[in-house]
Amino acid sequence: METTFSQFSTLPKEERYEQVLPLIKSLIKGEEDPVTLLANTCAALKEVFGWFWVGFYMVKDGQLHLGPFQGPVACTRIAKGRGVCGTAWEKAETMVVEDVDAFPGHIACSSLSRSEIVVPIIRKGEVLGVLDIDSEKLATFNAIDKRFLEELMAFAAEGLECY
Ligand code: SME
Repeated sequence: METTFSQFSTLPKEERYEQVLPLIKSLIKGEEDPVTLLANTCAALKEVFGWFWVGFYMVKDGQLHLGPFQGPVACTRIAKGRGVCGTAWEKAETMVVEDVDAFPGHIACSSLSRSEIVVPIIRKGEVLGVLDIDSEKLATFNAIDKRFLEELMAFAAEGLECY
């Protein structure tokens, strides 16, 4: 199996998602191990888009626990309602943050992060965890990212039976 996700990195954002989402879905379809599924998903997104940090926080024992990720070392636990991730979990909705310094309670795992999107992974009405993506540039994420990443997380949720 060889999938060179970086070949899509010059396409406009929407086209990039359109080309790459089916490939990521085929990569994780039928995968029963949650770590494998999450690890390859964030690796593929990082390779295609080159964002600063792409990873997962998963709900465990009433907190978010750091899961598979690509990027610098990050905070390991986040409480419900805290930071962008904890807020996305509490509200069960995607948070698009154009400027992390303007988000009250933003948790700065790295001072290089300037904007962020957090997409909850929802299965049968329950938030299993969140996809967190950080950018070194302001206002990197918009409604296009929200739409495609929510679609991808809905697909991934189906494979996360054991969470
Ligand atoms: N900024 C996040 C914390 C996680 S790091 O960005 C990887 C937050 O405010 O929840």
